[in-house]
Amino acid sequence: MNSLMIKALAFAVVLILATVAVVKGMKIDLSDPINLLTMLGAIGIAIITAGVTTKYIGQMKTDKSTGELVGDKWDGIGEYKNELPSGWAFSFMGVIIWALWYWIVGYPVNAYSQIGEYNEETKAFNAKYEAAFANPDQATLTAMGESVFLVQCAPCHGETADGLSGKAQDLTNRMSKEQILDVIAKGSNQLGYPMGAMPPMLAQGADADAVAAYVAGGMQGTAPAAFATCVACHGADGKGNNGAAPNIAGYDDTLVSHVLQNGKKGAIGAMPSFKTRLTPVQEKALSTYLQTL
Ligand code: HEC
Ligand code: HEC
Repeated sequence: MNSLMIKALAFAVVLILATVAVVKGMKIDLSDPINLLTMLGAIGIAIITAGVTTKYIGQMKTDKSTGELVGDKWDGIGEYKNELPSGWAFSFMGVIIWALWYWIVGYPVNAYSQIGEYNEETKAFNAKYEAAFANPDQATLTAMGESVFLVQCAPCHGETADGLSGKAQDLTNRMSKEQILDVIAKGSNQLGYPMGAMPPMLAQGADADAVAAYVAGGMQGTAPAAFATCVACHGADGKGNNGAAPNIAGYDDTLVSHVLQNGKKGAIGAMPSFKTRLTPVQEKALSTYLQTL
């Protein structure tokens, strides 16, 4: 028996003892035939490993290779003229083709992704929401409007929409005299009405004052003479000629939608646009709610 074989036997014994120790340590029940078979298998693998290893280590010591050498040497090491093993070449090319298939048709490019999944779910949920509120009645709109208002608008306009002492517009009234004076002196071009801009109309003065007081007071009684200049665009009733210009007599769906879409800067301050944050139904709900105040 040569020393290599002795070393191999010792290695096998160590592996077997380690296997037995693990089995004991884990308190594995060897009366169970499956466990017993598994342990015998492990011992078998240990013996085969030791045997095969010994065989090849022995061979490496004595074996001489044969064959035709190519002329080149790298650091003194020559190379045999071996054909590329065809099995290896085929599996190499096969793996490249498979990898391309996998990336393009299989998993990654067409993949399930969390972003895709999230978008799908949001879309499905929005469709469900839109279907559920396709034809909401007044009561539903008012309730929805109030809840959206409390979340999105109350921080500036206040829970009761009173404008928090002038920090934002008091939405229980259309516009204050100061706001109207500001618009008719400077004009305005921000709400995106089909008519476009309102030009500056009246500088501060008695006429402007009378018109502003009349509009802010809810257009009661006889209109001051200077209001005639406003009629062409806003209509004699101030309702804006069916959406051509803003309704200055009260809130309507068109005005609220234009304000929410474009935001607004005025005498009081700036309100951001809610363009991407509200659905058309929510805009209508907000307008319905504001008109109940
Ligand atoms: C040439 C048409 C035209 C005339 C005349 C006109 N307006 Fe306007 N007005 C508009 C348009 C268009 C807007 C919307 C401007 C915008 O997009 O910002 C507007 C906006 C307003 C607003 C602001 C509404 C809001 O909610 O922000 C007030 C108030 C107003 N007009 C009052 C008047 C008064 C009062 C007069 C008469 C002195 C008058 N306007 C004359 C076309 C006109
Ligand atoms: C960041 C504060 C802020 C938020 C949030 C806000 N607003 Fe405003 N809003 C304002 C200010 C400031 C004005 C007055 C602008 C001016 O000076 O004319 C205003 C004005 C308005 C007007 C009157 C516009 C006009 O032309 O008369 C309406 C209607 C309105 N807001 C509705 C809403 C609704 C509905 C929401 C919630 C979706 C909302 N606002 C959220 C600050 C805000």
